[in-house]
Amino acid sequence: MARKIIIDTDPGQDDAVAILLALASPELEVLGLSVVAGNVGLDHTQRNARMICELAGRPDLPVHAGCDAPLQRKLITAEHVHGKTGLDGVTLPEPAMPLAPGHAVDFLIETLRREKPGSVTLVPIGPLTNIATAFRRAPDIVPRVREIVLMGGAYFEVGNITPAAEFNIHVDPEAAKIVFASGAALTVMPLDVTHRALTSRAWVETMRGMGRIGQAVAGWTDFFERYDREKYGSQGAPLHDPCTIAWLLDPELFSGRLINVEIETRGEYTQGMTVADWWGVSGRPANATFIREVKRDAFFALLTERIRALDQRAG
Ligand code: RIB
Ligand code: CA
Repeated sequence: MARKIIIDTDPGQDDAVAILLALASPELEVLGLSVVAGNVGLDHTQRNARMICELAGRPDLPVHAGCDAPLQRKLITAEHVHGKTGLDGVTLPEPAMPLAPGHAVDFLIETLRREKPGSVTLVPIGPLTNIATAFRRAPDIVPRVREIVLMGGAYFEVGNITPAAEFNIHVDPEAAKIVFASGAALTVMPLDVTHRALTSRAWVETMRGMGRIGQAVAGWTDFFERYDREKYGSQGAPLHDPCTIAWLLDPELFSGRLINVEIETRGEYTQGMTVADWWGVSGRPANATFIREVKRDAFFALLTERIRALDQRAG
């Protein structure tokens, strides 16, 4: 039986690769995409999500537009990383598929109330505004969530949008605080592991040698890579968001520790920091599996195999 998931997303080139990986994998049943503002504004992220679905040959997939701003703060976006559209690097046709009717938060609540308790996994790969809003509006859905596997945070790797904070958490720290305190089973893919999921030139060229889906992945990676190359001197683009889907497909690719992770919302310099108690010194209860390592070659082998299969299927 395929594992039911909802991807909450702010596409974003790496979001796009995560969504393609999920749609390429028969082990997963994607019930829909809930879209949030983050990398770019909601007008672009909801359009990008539909373009990605059509690229994957899935114009049937429900795409719901969600929150266009954080719970309490002004939206911070990342055009400097992802380009003006959020999917720069590849030109795709305007989406023909419509948005699904209804706000993404209502979609999250209605789906979790309809599906069997413990059968739906949430995969947030952008700011946590939609998820937190759903949990606040309908607390009864929290125990119905099987697991939350999210991309966000950092500890030993420190921040990428401020010296202390990773982008997804920093955009909406209050939302992150609600999700991390919710009691739902939580697996966190922080920069500590996603900065190890770096693409290589050879891998990108393998993608470029495939059909239109692989070629799109190569184009997005070329664009997305330049930011990390300039900032960190890294050779390759960190595939942050696909780490969540790869975890669902093969958790053995990763290693981490069940620890306490708190979200800083008040610090003068540290707002949005994930305070990860890796050495268990706080005495605070563990609330998240915090991932630090990935088997990089096996991760990219999985990605290559699945993108190739999707390319062949989508034609
Ligand atoms: O910090 C990386 C995260 O921020 C990724 O999800 C990327 O898509 C951006 O949303
Ligand atoms: Ca993202």
